[in-house]
Amino acid sequence: MKHTADQMLIIFGASGDLTARKLVPALFNLFKGRHAPKNFVVLGASRSNLTDEDFRKKVIFESGYLENERNDNGVEFMKEFADKIFYEDLGSNYDTDYAGLKSRIEDLNTAHNTKHNFIFYLSTPPNLYEIISKNLSDQGLTIEKKGWKRLIVEKPFGYNLETAKKLNNALHEYFRESQIYRIDHYLGKETVQNLLVTRFANSIFEPLWNRNYIHHVEITNAERVGVEKRGGYYDKSGALRDMFQNHLLQIISLVVMEPPIGDNAEEIRNEKVKALKSLRIMRDEETLFSHTIRGQYLAAEIDGEEVKGYREEEGVDPESTTETYAAIKFFVDNWRWADVPFYVRTAKRMPTKVTEVVIHFKSSHHHIFKDSGINNKDNKLIIRIQPDEGVLIKFGVKVPGQGFKVERANLDFYYSSLAETRLMTAYERLLLDAMQGDATLYARADEVEAAWEFVDPILEYWKNGSNVITYGYSAGMWGPSNADDLIGGYYMWRNPGEQLADDPGFCVLS
Ligand code: BG6
Repeated sequence: MKHTADQMLIIFGASGDLTARKLVPALFNLFKGRHAPKNFVVLGASRSNLTDEDFRKKVIFESGYLENERNDNGVEFMKEFADKIFYEDLGSNYDTDYAGLKSRIEDLNTAHNTKHNFIFYLSTPPNLYEIISKNLSDQGLTIEKKGWKRLIVEKPFGYNLETAKKLNNALHEYFRESQIYRIDHYLGKETVQNLLVTRFANSIFEPLWNRNYIHHVEITNAERVGVEKRGGYYDKSGALRDMFQNHLLQIISLVVMEPPIGDNAEEIRNEKVKALKSLRIMRDEETLFSHTIRGQYLAAEIDGEEVKGYREEEGVDPESTTETYAAIKFFVDNWRWADVPFYVRTAKRMPTKVTEVVIHFKSSHHHIFKDSGINNKDNKLIIRIQPDEGVLIKFGVKVPGQGFKVERANLDFYYSSLAETRLMTAYERLLLDAMQGDATLYARADEVEAAWEFVDPILEYWKNGSNVITYGYSAGMWGPSNADDLIGGYYMWRNPGEQLADDPGFCVLS
């Protein structure tokens, strides 16, 4: 097990929702699982006027996100955890003198012997990243003379390539790249990491992982929910920025990348950047028109319940054309993937919540069993990222009886069948990695920029293109009805069900 040094985690934007919903529960689990170091302090900092006790009440003792933990672990244990949590009011503005914050950090460091090792976690709007970094630097809080200093930033990382570059340059004024951890919570998911293991720890898949055997690759990321209370943010972002530029391109890079030399952060990230740079950037309107589909959900009744259309959601412009559905077809220009199409879609208000990667293998070269209908029963490898996490292989078997009728059978593995079934949540895993100085599952500056480089022309086309269409789709459906045209031939999207082994077309609407 890797060593976790004594340290302090300073969370900016600590009175916001992410801290209570994700960060504190993750820290609690790390504490309970004895992953936190002996000397460990969490200091929340933000603009709300709270005392340590108020903050503890908010994020621990009265937090709805820790209700089960309070019931399961008892008050004493919760208090033990709460004793590690503190709060500092920054006043009305993040752009202020951090002398007060510095002296609070120094006092806590001395009292709890956190060895001058500090992580600054910026859970604030991105437009504050630069100013917070500068103010920390002005107080000498970024200097690594006595202990290490790390910076974690949340997404979105930039709004396009230009702003992402600007932000990278700005952060590099105050922190070295090796101190910066850009969080992408999808990389914290066990099943996303398992993509690497499936590919590079099995000799049966890697020889087939190329244009000679793979017909196409399909990735679906669907959510049942709409934009919820985030209409204001989402309307300026859209599905492409919100999910595709970061989470899905991360998954894509793991599917596309070449084998790294080893498992250290730089080796893996070098290969991921190379993979992202090999995606063919679409620039002409004709390609962008035929290779991208965007849609927006419309009001509908789901399970007897009226569901609002996107334009009726709070914070959304009633004439908005922002996409809640994005489907992209693209190619990868390298030796391994030449001519293999990739189809990737992400959307809100789908029939179910599911994320999966489907590797569609080519048909056998010569069809012996002519009447078997084998054509549309090609082998598939399905890597289920969520829910019902697992891996499924679809292959042909003979139907008992005369002749050679072929049917498709499933060979499946479920994470839930492992003895050790408690998977760390993404935030637990990522926080622990940053606490241990392991950046493998964090995005590097050049990775983020390469992702924007691919996405920028699509965004630009969707904004200013002459022939752009936004299709409507009823909430609770699998997107616009013409979405299958993107794939073409006798293939269609595999509309997955809630269970890994559900066949297309079947979906649980509970
Ligand atoms: C976030 C997006 O990054 O990921 C949200 O901003 C989205 O819009 C969420 O709902 C999905 O994450 P998960 O882990 O539930 O698939």
